[in-house]
Amino acid sequence: MIEIKKSPTSKIDKTNFDNLVFGQVFTDHMMECDYKNGEWQKPVIKPYGPLSLDPSARVFHYGQAVFEGMKAYKDKDDKIWLFRPEENFNRINRSSERLAIPEFPKEYFFNALVELLKLEKDWIKKGFGNSLYLRPFVIATEPGVSASAAKEYKFMIICSPAQAYYSGEVRVKFSEKYSRAADGGVGYAKAAGNYGAQFYPTNLVKEEGFQQIIWTDANSHEYLEEAGTMNIFFRIGDKLITAPTNDRILDGVTRKSVIALAKENNIDIEIRRVSVQEVIEAAENNELMEIFGSGTATVINPVAGFGHKDKKFELPKLENSYASFFKDKLMKIQYNEAEDKFGWRYEV
Ligand code: COI
Repeated sequence: MIEIKKSPTSKIDKTNFDNLVFGQVFTDHMMECDYKNGEWQKPVIKPYGPLSLDPSARVFHYGQAVFEGMKAYKDKDDKIWLFRPEENFNRINRSSERLAIPEFPKEYFFNALVELLKLEKDWIKKGFGNSLYLRPFVIATEPGVSASAAKEYKFMIICSPAQAYYSGEVRVKFSEKYSRAADGGVGYAKAAGNYGAQFYPTNLVKEEGFQQIIWTDANSHEYLEEAGTMNIFFRIGDKLITAPTNDRILDGVTRKSVIALAKENNIDIEIRRVSVQEVIEAAENNELMEIFGSGTATVINPVAGFGHKDKKFELPKLENSYASFFKDKLMKIQYNEAEDKFGWRYEV
């Protein structure tokens, strides 16, 4: 079903796996599948390399592009696993629908992943924290600058060996002004523009010593929605709170896995709106125990401190944090070191 053109050379021996910066090194192959004449053509796995696109391609002018983030893990017996890949498959098609991109066939998606991972298996290193980050994406390639949905697309998967996403502590600033999306917008989609739009506000807060912003709702900026690269959880006392998904917030796979693990482990979890005021009051009363982000790239990322307007708060450093509890639970499932009660693992 898939055509495979193997690369005559490999970069693997020149790659320093002990010092990987997230998303900088790519493996030897990539998957490419074109949409034209009203259908997806035969997918091809070929040597990783640059694309040649018409400068008028819609993706450059109207940002008609969506993507996914997934990881492949290697267990102690060299078996390779994906984590809930069906969720990513469904989500890329939900994102595509919102951006008027044609649905990608399921058998192409899974076949491509399996064949690509078989070819690139040596790029997946063992041990907690090591993985192969997979980036499926779709771009509108049809030439022409009329502002209408393209009739030609490229679905691709590229692979990058990964370790930690953030190299140091993460402090976040609650946004007073910026939002990921408004109701009716594209916030729930993994649309490229949702992420490009955080670079400017993130640069502003970096100047104040924060690494990320937390988007607040577009109507009032009183409610905390999502961080630039991850969903976000708050622990007040022993209660865990995260915002509900809606038009504006990404339905994160790690987010929903944390919710399921919390319920399974009798951790009190509330899925409801979280206000800036509630979190600041909890911090002032020493009841705010943790904030952590969740996402495929970041896994579970503890937040060391936060700011709002001119106030800055540091969070306690806990021995038994929920963040480390969930990270450990998730990784043991991902690396095939614990029972997979929920059926989340997918063997390649
Ligand atoms: C992921 O967690 O995989 C994402 O896609 C977030 C990305 C912006 C790094």
